[in-house]
Amino acid sequence: MSRSPDVRLADVDETTLERLLALAMDDASPDEVTPPVGDGTGWNAARIDWFRAYHRSAAAGLDGPAREKSWAILCDGSPAGSVRLKRTGPDSVETGIWLGRSFRGRGVGSAALDLVLVEARHSGLRQVVARTTAGNIGAQRLLAAAGAQLTHDDGGAVSAAVVL
Ligand SMILES: CC(C)(COP(=O)(O)OP(=O)(O)OC[C@H]1O[C@@H](n2cnc3c(N)ncnc32)[C@H](O)[C@@H]1OP(=O)(O)O)[C@@H](O)C(=O)NCCC(=O)NCCS
Repeated sequence: MSRSPDVRLADVDETTLERLLALAMDDASPDEVTPPVGDGTGWNAARIDWFRAYHRSAAAGLDGPAREKSWAILCDGSPAGSVRLKRTGPDSVETGIWLGRSFRGRGVGSAALDLVLVEARHSGLRQVVARTTAGNIGAQRLLAAAGAQLTHDDGGAVSAAVVL
């Protein structure tokens, strides 16, 4: 019987940032990890700059200037992906998550989302929202399993809300 992986969240210091970037470039699609910056294609220099700047500014946390916090997801001690929270209102945050492909499909995403919901609860927040697409069945299953109410719009977007 395979054991459940040990999943933890860790702050993104400079060493972890470079390990996360290497994982993202080797084992995830750029569109799963960054907005379509630069010419939009592949892991271009603008995407890499965005990735570093994003995690550095999110290091200050939900009450910092970016009002955002990111964590590395550690699976059995190794960086497996990242999860984030961003303030969207006085008691509401948005979340987003990505994992390297080799870490998907064995409960790591669910465990990391549960941990970030605990972080949100500890910060006194009442609601966590997320957005995905109608085609992203993995993300919808992950969010539904965490207790999210899913709403589909006509344009193919799916909104999720978890009341804490
Ligand atoms: C979405 C993502 C984080 C899920 O993480 P994961 O570790 O693979 O998910 P888990 O193994 O914890 O599975 C969670 C649930 O989703 C289901 N699931 C996961 N991937 C799936 C897929 N590709 N197709 C169908 N169901 C899937 C699992 O069966 C499980 O469902 P259950 O609880 O009803 O049994 C991961 O696939 C990923 O990084 N995708 C690319 C980035 C992305 O889409 N992020 C989401 C933006 S909101």
